[in-house]
Amino acid sequence: MNNNIPITIAIDGYSSSGKSSMAKALAKKIGYRYIDSGAMYRAVTLYAMRNNMVTLDHVVDCEALIASLPNIKIDFKVCDDGQHTLLNGEDVECEIRQLDVSNNVSQVAVIPAIRHALVAMQQAFGTEKGIVMDGRDIGTTVFPNAELKIFVNASAETRAMRRHKELIEKGQPSTYEDVLTNVVTRDHIDETREESPLRKADDAILLDNSNMTIDEQDAWLINKYHEAIANLK
Ligand code: CDP
Repeated sequence: MNNNIPITIAIDGYSSSGKSSMAKALAKKIGYRYIDSGAMYRAVTLYAMRNNMVTLDHVVDCEALIASLPNIKIDFKVCDDGQHTLLNGEDVECEIRQLDVSNNVSQVAVIPAIRHALVAMQQAFGTEKGIVMDGRDIGTTVFPNAELKIFVNASAETRAMRRHKELIEKGQPSTYEDVLTNVVTRDHIDETREESPLRKADDAILLDNSNMTIDEQDAWLINKYHEAIANLK
């Protein structure tokens, strides 16, 4: 087996489908770098919110945000409890997961110039392969030649319940109804935007994990990884 040849693994799917947990667990197990592309869109959104570039009804001042792109530096650091997202050197891991950021992020992620800038950063992270990246357009746009592509889905109700539980466990305010509304709204914006909309790449393997435990989905994914490695010529 070609176990030593690093590959690129793209995991896309709907909001709160569990793709980040799967991607993280796989990366840890096989010693790959993990990049959460959604965290990058969330960090840009937080920057826009802090600088009054988003109205209360989620209208983004695109011109101002695009002009600010040179002032936005995003990075990741590995901490004891996992990877944290840095915005201009500040650890914003907790803040970017809050529902107010979730309620604006898809509106920021439709802006083509923002997408182009973040896609270029994401591609730079992956130049040496040995990477697992999760998001919405990783298999279609960021790494169209990835050796392994997965597309994850589960029902909106299941996904909202998972995210609601996660927010409560982190001590963040949340109601199931608000999270469900956010999940459904983001799915719609992500699927219908013009620039690299959320869709399954033709060569991605579909996983519906509605009725799977975390252990089952991790085992499923590691199996797909071994198959992809075995298929390398
Ligand atoms: O974790 P969750 O599934 O809630 O979302 P996320 O992965 O943190 O991504 C947040 C939002 O960023 C998504 O709803 C998309 O609007 C946007 N996004 C994107 O457009 N393209 C990506 N590659 C990743 C995220």
